[in-house]
Formats: sequence, structure tokens, C-alpha cells
Amino acid sequence: ITSDTIRIDGQSFPVDDFTNVTPNILSKIKRQLHLHQSHPISILRNLIETQLNDFRHFNSFSPIVSTRQNFDDLGFPIDHVGRNKTDSYYINRSVMLRTHTSAHQLQILSAGENKFLVSADVYRRDEIDSNHYPVFHQMEGVQVFDVAEAKEQVSCDITKIGQFNSACVLISNEADTDTSTNNQKNPIQFCHPVEAANSVGLHLKHTLNELVKRLFKDEKELKVRWIDAYFPFTSPSWEMEVLYQGKWLEICGCGVILQDLMNKAVRPNEIGWAFGLGLERIAMVLFDIPDIRLFWSNDPRFLDQFTTNEIKKFKPFSKYPASTRDISFWVDNNKGFHENNFCELVRSIAGDLVEDAKMIDEFVHPISKRRSLCYRIIYRSMDRNVTNEEINQIQLDVQKEVQTQLGVILR
Ligand code: PHE
Repeated sequence: ITSDTIRIDGQSFPVDDFTNVTPNILSKIKRQLHLHQSHPISILRNLIETQLNDFRHFNSFSPIVSTRQNFDDLGFPIDHVGRNKTDSYYINRSVMLRTHTSAHQLQILSAGENKFLVSADVYRRDEIDSNHYPVFHQMEGVQVFDVAEAKEQVSCDITKIGQFNSACVLISNEADTDTSTNNQKNPIQFCHPVEAANSVGLHLKHTLNELVKRLFKDEKELKVRWIDAYFPFTSPSWEMEVLYQGKWLEICGCGVILQDLMNKAVRPNEIGWAFGLGLERIAMVLFDIPDIRLFWSNDPRFLDQFTTNEIKKFKPFSKYPASTRDISFWVDNNKGFHENNFCELVRSIAGDLVEDAKMIDEFVHPISKRRSLCYRIIYRSMDRNVTNEEINQIQLDVQKEVQTQLGVILR
């Protein structure tokens, strides 16, 4: 990054007041975990591609997209939170790192594809814990039908996909009942014949139910549930969640594609569904990987455990001790404070040594009305012991940088 341009992969981009990518984040672009044959993310991608064998795959789109591809084409309202600098990585006002694989829907639909999968790395500014990392992988799936033939095609296809017997338990499985009309916030679209929309919704859920049952066939009674959801580019919309380590984790958002998008692709007489699978979340369950940072490890003790096309449970090497530090500061009420900015700053200094950052205390001074926050940061390496001195140094840097970059006052 020079003063007025950023170079990424030989391409130059002008910087502006929206630029917030960091060297740490840009360094992840070249990793391409989803294409490393024996990496869990790639093994999983392959497995899904094999299950959905007649879908065309796209696996090498660049993560650098326009804000138009990522948001506008998909009908994101101008004030959608995802557009905030606090939530997404911008190269400048009009170019960004994609936040989801849906950014490629329109271009592929416009090219006339009917059934496809897109796997890729996606980027989001977020909190810090064992399930969140600023880069992760999604697989987009799209299937399109002729409106007039949707119902017939769907019932024929559903028979073809069949029903797999699995220990995986689907809770509130709405695939058999027509509940799409109950989805208030995200109803069947006016322009869609109800029967076609219901058929497509049913087909989507059947496809995903069967995929998940087959993926998790060896998990003892893994619980999976459907819930209603909202996305700017699908209606109705749903989410699929799995119960893992006592928490419901979202593994997939999906729905019936907004007709507006089909029209933009110049396909007004067709109706389609789309899903976006979170590959890390699924891989964590399948391979028993307890911390999302492990996917990025270069440690042979991690990488050498996995073989192409095989699901094997990860055998943790000993967990190294954690080192915990608290930091307290006054927030300037006029300047605003966003947790994602704080987390980004900690990550940019500590890299993968930071495991968790949580606010543990907040109070407002009764007279000055100033707000004070206290964060607990847990540092731990995935592959070695950390020394007190190195963590002290990192913590000193964090203390210094929060003051200069975030304008808070240490207590
Ligand atoms: N892109 C959405 C997300 O990342 C998921 C999604 C994909 C939802 C396709 C609907 C259809 O959250």
C-alpha cells in the first residue's frame, strides 16, 4: 500500500476514504484453501460437488469484486448494514473483497447456466472467537426452472434425488409441508404463480436436506433445523442450522431468487432457487475441528492428518496454554466506537495468536456520562507455547494503537 494506490496481484487500485483492507487480510487471498486437494475445506467442496454431480462448478473467481456485484445487483438497500465500512473490506468506494459468493450469481445466470456451484473465499469484518475468522469459504448453489414447467420438473427431480436413511435428525423439517406462505417478512413474490414458487421452495429444501443427510451420515443424531430468514435477493428465504457444541450454527442461507434478478439476467420466464453454504461450519462438525484458525495453519501436524476425498476426525495436538489480558478504556461519545474496528486492530497486531476477544464490562460514568468498556483478550497459539514477553509486547502495541487509531482513552 503506497499513499494513493494499492497493488494486489499486479493490479493497481486508487485508495479513498473507504479503503480499509489491511496487509494481513490481503495476504490471505493467495491461500486458496478450497483448492488444496488434501485440505478439509477442499475435501468438503469435492464431496458436495460429487453429491450434486450434475451441477457445473466455478472455483476460481477473484475475490475482488465491485460493490455493484456484491450489493447493488442483488438489491441490497443503500442503508444495509453489510455495506458499512465496519462490516466489509473495501479496496475503495467501488471495489471490495466479496462478502459472499452470491456476488457471482448474476454474471453466471446471465451466461445462461441452469445449475451451478461457486466455491470461494469470502471476507467479513467480525468478532473474534473460535467460530469467526475474517476470511471463510462459501459454496453457492443455484438451480433454475421454466416457470411453466417448474412443478413437473420438481416432482420428477425429487424422485430422482430420493431419500437417504441417515442418523442425522432434521428438526422442524418443513420440506414436506407448505409453509412458504407463512413467511411474513419474505413471502412468495407477487409475480410468481404460487404453485411454481412452492415447488421450487420444496425442491430447494429437498436438495439441501438430502445433501446434509448424506454429508452427516456418520454423525450420531446430529440435529439440523430450518428457520425462516431474510435476504435482499431471495423471497421466501430460509436458514439451516446445526447444533454443535451446544450452539446452533448457521450453515446455510437460501431461498427463491428474486424475479428482479432473473429479469436482469434476461430470463423473465424462469424461476430459480439459490443457497450459500458455509464450508468452515460444516467442516468443523465433519472433521471435529474445534477452532476456525486451524484451517489456516501451516503446521504439518494439522495438514498431514487429512487425505484427499476422506473424512477423518482431527486428532488435536496438545492445546497450548492461553495468555489472557484485559484492556479498559473510555470511549469518546462523539466519535463512536465499533467492536469490529477493535477486533480488526487486535487481529492486525496479534495475527492468529488471538483466540477470543469479548467485552466483559461496560459502564457509564454517572456525572461525565462517558462510557467505559473493558475487553478480555485471550491469546493462544495453535502450534506452540507463547511467552509472556511476546504477549506483553503485543498487548502494549494494542494499547498504543487503540489510542491512536480508535481515539479511545486508556484507563
Ligand atoms: N449470501 C448469503 C449469505 O452469505 C447466503 C444466501 C445465498 C442466501 C443464496 C440466499 C441465497 O449470508
